[in-house]
Amino acid sequence: MPDSLAIELHGALGLVTLNRPERHNAFDDALIAELTETLRSLEGDDKVRLVVLSGAGKSFSAGADLNWMKRMAGFSQEENQRDAMALGALMRTLAHFRKPTIARVQGAAYGGGVGLVACCDVAVAAQSATFALTETKLGLVPGVISPYVVSAIGERAARRYFLTGERFDAAEAWRLGLVHDLAPNEDELDGKIGEIVDAMLACGPVAQREAKELIRAVANRPVTSELIQDTAERIARLRASPEGREGVAAFLEKRRAAWVPPDETEPS
Ligand code: COA
Repeated sequence: MPDSLAIELHGALGLVTLNRPERHNAFDDALIAELTETLRSLEGDDKVRLVVLSGAGKSFSAGADLNWMKRMAGFSQEENQRDAMALGALMRTLAHFRKPTIARVQGAAYGGGVGLVACCDVAVAAQSATFALTETKLGLVPGVISPYVVSAIGERAARRYFLTGERFDAAEAWRLGLVHDLAPNEDELDGKIGEIVDAMLACGPVAQREAKELIRAVANRPVTSELIQDTAERIARLRASPEGREGVAAFLEKRRAAWVPPDETEPS
């Protein structure tokens, strides 16, 4: 049986591909467990600096495997709760991943597929990609993905798309802020993603981890004196950190910072 997840390492880049193309990369309990485990292992691998999440075949992901959903309908509330918590753990692992993450979206991103996109730091879609939160059409709700999707598209858009299950195109996903960039076709997706990968590799890895925590600490919080104190502590700590010292020194000395991969076009 083919593996439902493909993992490749290209230097500092971890490429994780949902690999059930015949099911449009719909995920069941086994794939959820495998993806969560893989992300945890990449998070702990010092050689990996960032992760690109993609889907093999026509679609990024058709969300929850509806055969699995059907199977679970015969189980108790407790068993369903435990099962849904596993998907919740996957979404949280991805959303709180300590390194930058990029979603590469082609074809359909439906239901939990939209959840995966919303959990990544950056998302790039082909113009032909389509999105939908179809759960209510199926008599369900986009439960564990909702905090990340509402945070990405806002409450107003969530009201429409959660309540209609309508399909929307990549231009609308971009307008809503679900995806950051569009590629005119699938062939150009990798070029766009390559540019973002290069930009990410030029930034300090500790600073990126801290920046992700910073965003979570300030998002939707009132600007109180405690919050100002907290943000000042964060920058004060990084100024004196080895990475902060190296980054500032490299700029002033007009050289590449230690963490930046060598540019192959530069003379050595
Ligand atoms: N769970 C299980 N199987 C799925 C699936 C899902 N979420 N999405 C697609 N599949 C299966 C189809 O049942 C079909 O199986 P079959 O070959 O045994 O008939 C196969 O994948 C191909 O799908 P098909 O619908 O024929 O392809 P398509 O290109 O016409 O459409 C989608 C692709 C993704 C747009 C369409 O399958 C779809 O709308 N899927 C449901 C997605 C959804 O609502 N997800 C949210 C779940 S909460």
